[in-house]
Amino acid sequence: MVNRDFFLGALVAASTSVIAQDSGSENIRFGNAFSLGATTSYIIEAETTLFPGKTQSGDTPRLALWPGMGTDEDQLIQAIVLGSTDAQGEQCGGKPHVSGEWCAFASALQDGVQLQGDTFPVKSNQGVKIHYKYDEGSGNTTQTVSIEGKTVSTLSTRSGKAIGFGTAEEAQNEFQGVVHEHSYVNTTVVLAAADEQFASTLSKNGAAGNLVTKDNKTFKVDKITIAEYSFPASV
Ligand SMILES: *[C@@H]1O[C@H](CO)[C@@H](O)[C@H](O)[C@H]1NC(C)=O
Ligand SMILES: *[C@@H]1O[C@H](CO)[C@@H](O)[C@H](O)[C@H]1NC(C)=O
Ligand SMILES: *[C@@H]1O[C@H](CO)[C@@H](O)[C@H](O)[C@H]1NC(C)=O
Repeated sequence: MVNRDFFLGALVAASTSVIAQDSGSENIRFGNAFSLGATTSYIIEAETTLFPGKTQSGDTPRLALWPGMGTDEDQLIQAIVLGSTDAQGEQCGGKPHVSGEWCAFASALQDGVQLQGDTFPVKSNQGVKIHYKYDEGSGNTTQTVSIEGKTVSTLSTRSGKAIGFGTAEEAQNEFQGVVHEHSYVNTTVVLAAADEQFASTLSKNGAAGNLVTKDNKTFKVDKITIAEYSFPASV
């Protein structure tokens, strides 16, 4: 049976862990999303370029955009593009936060602990290329985050086999405001083996983009557009 709500389930489980491990993060809420999974196979490679666009209205911590992969061991692989001036965002790439800029880093939520690679600032007109690759030998997934062709952050974790892929707009703590429209370009998800049901697990909430496949093994979307989303005052 295909679990259509796999990815949202993973998010809820992950956010519980975030709360548990980081006392500064509470009241986790999710906005619009484009998500796929679970597959009966597993994801051996995925790539996308996130154009985060204009930073959100308001600088209240904390707002994160990420394309993530949930695994069969309930771990979360999630390179993050953060728009915030709080502890995680105030220093980015060793420099102070610049208003209107984002901060990108490879990241994984591993057994409730947030692991991360180097941080690097992102201007509103730049794309953040995110590549995930599963290595059969080590069982690790390697993340490579690059901007304008230069690798800026990497992370390798033994997170299990990824079975879903999806985008997230994650608001934490007292964040209230508007997340502007943004896009994911040239998204590719490659499975270890063909899964004829994978395309039917697609779920779009405030998201647009045509999923195509020739063999039910490699799936592509030229452009995923995530609509503007307004997070109300936290409850
Ligand atoms: C695999 O990931 C673990 C963390 O989960 C890390 O300690 C180890 O160095 C990684 N191995 C390789 C070959 O990168
Ligand atoms: C997306 O793919 C097209 C076609 O290969 C290429 O021309 C374009 O530069 C790519 N854009 C990004 C952001 O990777
Ligand atoms: C891919 O899966 C669909 C069902 O979702 C099926 O109709 C189609 O024939 C499959 N394509 C290939 C090449 O196996």
